[in-house]
Amino acid sequence: MQIEVASGSIQETNVQALAVAVFKDEKADEGFLKELDGPCGGMIKSVLDSEELKGKEGETAFIHLSETANGKARRLLLVGVGDRSEYNRASVSEMAGAAVRTLRGKNVKSIAVAPRLDGNAEDIAAAAAEGAVIATFDLDKYRTVDKEERQIERLAVFIDGADSGAIERGIRRGQIIGESVNFTRDMANEPGAYLTPTMMADRAREVANECGLSIDVLDEARMEQEGMGSLLSVSRGSDEPAKLIILKYSPVNEDEDSKGLLSFVGKGITFDSGGISLKPGENMELMKYDMTGGATVIGAMRAIGKLKPSISVLGVVPCSENLPSGKATKPGDVVRAMTGKTIEVINTDAEGRLILADAIAYAKKLGATRIVDMATLTGAVSIALGDVNAAILGTDQELIDEVISAGKEVGEKFWQLPLDKEYSKQIKSDIADIKNVGGRKAGTITAAAFLKEFADGVAWAHLDIAGTAWGDEAKPFRSKGPTGIAVRTLIKIVEREALKTAKT
Ligand code: BES
Ligand code: ZN
Ligand code: ZN
Repeated sequence: MQIEVASGSIQETNVQALAVAVFKDEKADEGFLKELDGPCGGMIKSVLDSEELKGKEGETAFIHLSETANGKARRLLLVGVGDRSEYNRASVSEMAGAAVRTLRGKNVKSIAVAPRLDGNAEDIAAAAAEGAVIATFDLDKYRTVDKEERQIERLAVFIDGADSGAIERGIRRGQIIGESVNFTRDMANEPGAYLTPTMMADRAREVANECGLSIDVLDEARMEQEGMGSLLSVSRGSDEPAKLIILKYSPVNEDEDSKGLLSFVGKGITFDSGGISLKPGENMELMKYDMTGGATVIGAMRAIGKLKPSISVLGVVPCSENLPSGKATKPGDVVRAMTGKTIEVINTDAEGRLILADAIAYAKKLGATRIVDMATLTGAVSIALGDVNAAILGTDQELIDEVISAGKEVGEKFWQLPLDKEYSKQIKSDIADIKNVGGRKAGTITAAAFLKEFADGVAWAHLDIAGTAWGDEAKPFRSKGPTGIAVRTLIKIVEREALKTAKT
């Protein structure tokens, strides 16, 4: 999809269809809609007066315009966006996404979108481009029949009265971000056989080469040398060797970040069968997406490499399969993590925390002072927060607040759960320092309490995305399947941090 600036008036843009945001209970008697209604032959007023569309979020009305209407486009899509007072950057992204998906379904090839938000034009254009690109993703990669082949070839972004240079810059940024979100979603969607830890490392290498990142991939021998007994205990049951991917972005002209090295760590379990503590068969196929945290880190690093902010960022992705075999770790086994801490493995299905423990320790060894880790870590998080909010927990309130606030700006929701020290009692072991499960109560919190054991001495926040990484149903602006949750938030954190650092 080619994305460009709509210069001049929207009705003069040379496209097949216009997509226009309509606020709740808005009429076409004044302002932008009134102006556009003339060239559209009075159809906007007609639709709104008939109350066929009341501007509620998710509503759309598709209209063919008469040959006598004097604008260029012959079709019009009105997209309900809800209350004007709540309409923001994140809504623009969804509006553009809904326009792309709806009009693609009508076999339209070129569109102009009018998001109708006041404010920073570059940012609004970025949001629109990002949403449009994200909307093009489908999970039917391996279909040979009934595959969605239709495409919007050209999209023009119209922002009333804005400088076209600013819109252009926003579009380029938004495109990079949208493509990076889709990169993560494509990885999350890959079956286990098509994305083993080795293949995940290969993809990370391609990203590093394409985006100017440095990369190091530790094999099992090097992990052994580092004493990563916790990570290695998870791959023991599999024929596929574990990999630890290290990506680093270093700017040419670096602004010294007084807070030190920001780093992202993501769980990369390319298939989670549960191991000896085997999962039930129902829905087990979905455990191909248990590497979403890792894919999120790689996707965000991809965008960071292309956007070139002025601060360094480290990405660490431990990758492994979790399978049962004669060599697999058994419940009751004790393993030794890189930090020297001993762990009693009560349940081999609580493997995410085992690989993250050593990855967090290694990030610290590489100089990380602020760590955000993300993982499809616990089924319990879906019970607590459903598929609306991801959980966030950690030891540094400033970092947690930064994630929540960046998330708000890009339309990704994080809800903080408590992490009082009392919860750590649940992971005390009789035989070792700690155990890898904490009983039935507060599963998401005790998983975080486990990680906290390895995140001492740094500012740390943990995102549990098990409930939000996969959408069971399609949305108007997004296909079902991998959501790409947190990719945009991570990028936003880095963008904000770079801006702040440059100013001081
Ligand atoms: N990968 C799963 C968590 C998960 C569940 C992700 C559903 C996505 C959807 C994780 O490794 C796991 O199995 N966790 C166990 C932990 C338990 C054994 C303490 C769980 O949540 O049941
Ligand atoms: Zn598991
Ligand atoms: Zn898992």
